[in-house]
Amino acid sequence: MGYGTTSSQPWPCAALAHAELAPRTTLRVGGRAEWLLEPATPDEFAAAFVAARERGLPVRVLGGGANLLVDDGLHRGVVLTTVRLRRLFRPTGGGESQDELAAQPEGLLPSERVAPPDVAEDPRLVAWAGCTLPALVRAARDLGLGGLEGLAGVPGHVGGGVAMNAGGRGGELWDVVESVRLLAPDGTVADLAREDARPRYRDGGLGERIVLGAVLRLVPASKAELRERVRAYLVEKNRVQPVSEHSCGCIFKNPDPERSAGRSAGRLIDECGGKGRVRGDAIVSPLHGNFIVNRGAATAADVLGLVDELRDLVAQRTGIELELEVKRWRAEGGM
Ligand code: EPU
Repeated sequence: MGYGTTSSQPWPCAALAHAELAPRTTLRVGGRAEWLLEPATPDEFAAAFVAARERGLPVRVLGGGANLLVDDGLHRGVVLTTVRLRRLFRPTGGGESQDELAAQPEGLLPSERVAPPDVAEDPRLVAWAGCTLPALVRAARDLGLGGLEGLAGVPGHVGGGVAMNAGGRGGELWDVVESVRLLAPDGTVADLAREDARPRYRDGGLGERIVLGAVLRLVPASKAELRERVRAYLVEKNRVQPVSEHSCGCIFKNPDPERSAGRSAGRLIDECGGKGRVRGDAIVSPLHGNFIVNRGAATAADVLGLVDELRDLVAQRTGIELELEVKRWRAEGGM
């Protein structure tokens, strides 16, 4: 097969041993994965997952690494990445998108080469898990499909975005999900319709199931208006968040507004004097209190030190317990 091998059998997809994880995350901290597998299709992904399970190895899934805090050290087992599952399609007609999602990609063109005649007839997009959210937002805008503008400037992949219900004040990804294709821990693949899902704030409610792709139902809209709305979100995000620096987005969830008198986690940290605190090369952003920025050589230990410091600070001053919003990978275990 020409793919990476263990001493006994080959993996059913491209594989790297002892792969560095830090460059695969937006925060740029963390250790190495014993195995990093890079399947190129949803079928290959499912096969790689099953192969890892058969070998008794713990499995983690890595999307865009945008909402992830990876511990330093060796992460035993397999990291399955969606980085090569980048495709985005227009459905070809009544309901066929479901089959496209399962099919091998031959004959299906990447979205940028498809000029759909009429989005009003079928205003849907089909995205594989590794389609980046910025690519999705751009494609929808350029096709005249509305509903994703609030996700402008949100990094990461569709898979992680669906799993975490990515979004912000301008909307969440599950607002436009029609169905998702999921890989269950037992290796079976099934579709879940929106009406059978229970997404919440920053949680797609999928448990241990892995997102292979999603069908998104959008709304036809004027391209000029969409361009303007996307631009406005990007400008605003640039104004209030350290978007061009290495971070993992908001570190903590916003607390229940009733308990915090409507104050966001960033505002609480700001009011308690947490901004600008430093550990090693990690700093609490002076721009937004809910972001920790890696100035170059920060380690996960530096970032985790700041996380504890901020949590203690806010708890002592306000009595509010902040909860991590980012996913943390501990070095000693798997999913
Ligand atoms: N604020 C301060 N000081 C700060 C930061 C914020 O006073 O240091 C104030 C702001 O002025 C504003 C309020 O707090 O009045 C809320 O801040 P912001 O508008 O930046 O929104 P947020 O609640 O901190 C949420 C999401 C972001 C998302 C934005 C915009 C969470 C935890 N955060 O931030 O999501 O980008 O809304 O839609 O839900 C992420 O999930 O990683 C993330 C960054």
